[in-house]
Amino acid sequence: MANEENILPTQIIVGVVGIGLMGSSITTCLLIAGHQVIAVAPIPIDLETAETRIHEHLVRSFEQEICLEKPVYYLKNLTITEDYNCLKDTSLVIECTLEDITIKKQVYKNIENVVSNETIITSNTSAIPISLLQEEACIPSRFFGLHWAEPSHTTRFLEIICGNKSDQQKAEWLYQLSHHWAKEPTLVRKDIRGFITNRLMYALYREAFYLVENGYATVDDVDRACRNNAGYWMTFVGCFRWMDLTGIPAYHAVMRDLLPTLYNETEIPKLIDDIVKTGGKGILNGNGFYNYTPEEARLWRETFEEFSYDIRRLALKYPVDVVTRKLNALEKKNETQD
Ligand SMILES: *[C@@H]1O[C@H](CO)[C@@H](O)[C@H](O)[C@H]1NC(C)=O
Ligand SMILES: *[C@@H]1O[C@H](CO)[C@@H](O)[C@H](O)[C@H]1NC(C)=O
Ligand SMILES: *[C@@H]1O[C@H](CO)[C@@H](O)[C@H](O)[C@H]1NC(C)=O
Ligand SMILES: *[C@@H]1O[C@H](CO)[C@@H](O)[C@H](O)[C@H]1NC(C)=O
Ligand SMILES: *[C@@H]1O[C@H](CO)[C@@H](O)[C@H](O)[C@H]1NC(C)=O
Ligand SMILES: *[C@@H]1O[C@H](CO)[C@@H](O)[C@H](O)[C@H]1NC(C)=O
Repeated sequence: MANEENILPTQIIVGVVGIGLMGSSITTCLLIAGHQVIAVAPIPIDLETAETRIHEHLVRSFEQEICLEKPVYYLKNLTITEDYNCLKDTSLVIECTLEDITIKKQVYKNIENVVSNETIITSNTSAIPISLLQEEACIPSRFFGLHWAEPSHTTRFLEIICGNKSDQQKAEWLYQLSHHWAKEPTLVRKDIRGFITNRLMYALYREAFYLVENGYATVDDVDRACRNNAGYWMTFVGCFRWMDLTGIPAYHAVMRDLLPTLYNETEIPKLIDDIVKTGGKGILNGNGFYNYTPEEARLWRETFEEFSYDIRRLALKYPVDVVTRKLNALEKKNETQD
């Protein structure tokens, strides 16, 4: 079975097809992990802009101690090209082109024409079901979804999604490999719309709209509740460990009374519909659930970036196996005492 320790990124050449915003940060992540990366730009403009973007990500990553070497060290392992033939020796190709099935279909054809039959192919789609997309590949069993969170070189999030025909052993290999990318991945064993996180988060968003639209609390009150309840513990543990930590019977008791009252409407809430219909986009144009002057919008963006690096440090201090590590350290100590 695949094992994190015997998978060596320096021996695995990875292709990235589509080097827009997401493709650039994914490429950065892979370079830092030690991969040689072949980045293919189907959109010619990306040929010119991608290297600058990746260079900037590497500069920031060095400043933030995400990587130990300066950009030039990693850039030696990067090839940016228009030529799909350069993907010939890759073991993994990460497609991140636009969410358009006709574009993606052509891209898979181009990839499969040059890579070996063993090469794993992944898509960053969240709009098109993987089971459907893999039917477009000559060899569907090598095909997976990879769902990243921007910026991919700093976030710990990654979902690996199997379609109906995906090979479970290859899924396991991807899962192990992604630990080398500083990810704490989730393996989605069966294809489902929204995968895991979006399903969880949209359940929360829907309830938030219900509370505001029905006058139970204002937008900023709901936001403060999120920040200081879920926001306080969620980087430390997930929902199941949280119930373990705080006592399961209480949740059981509350569920009986609360679940039937939770919002289950399937229409888009009026509050968000009105904002979108009047052109609101959030900080992008200053109109959202809150309003922003350009100065405020800029500061929110900058402050979020600052916070991202801080929370990453905290998440690294408390990895998912934090207690296992402490146990191992204790065992070692016991052994040396014996
Ligand atoms: C996939 O990548 C493309 C290009 O960067 C981007 O437009 C699209 O939003 C991405 N999709 C997801 C689900 O991240
Ligand atoms: C670049 O790739 C080579 C060969 O794949 C590897 O040995 C080397 O460690 C990589 N360099 C960096 C800076 O990761
Ligand atoms: C690769 O897979 C295709 C489709 O299954 C098959 O036709 C072809 O013979 C395979 N090539 C090799 C070298 O195994
Ligand atoms: C995948 O499998 C599910 C459950 O068996 C089925 O409902 C669905 O139609 C399949 N999807 C495709 C694209 O074959
Ligand atoms: C929502 O819940 C109500 C009350 O329990 C129920 O009558 C209704 O069918 C549910 N609607 C949906 C879309 O599930
Ligand atoms: C270490 O030794 C103590 C005392 O003998 C024991 O209670 C504890 O369970 C041991 N811990 C581990 C991790 O072996």
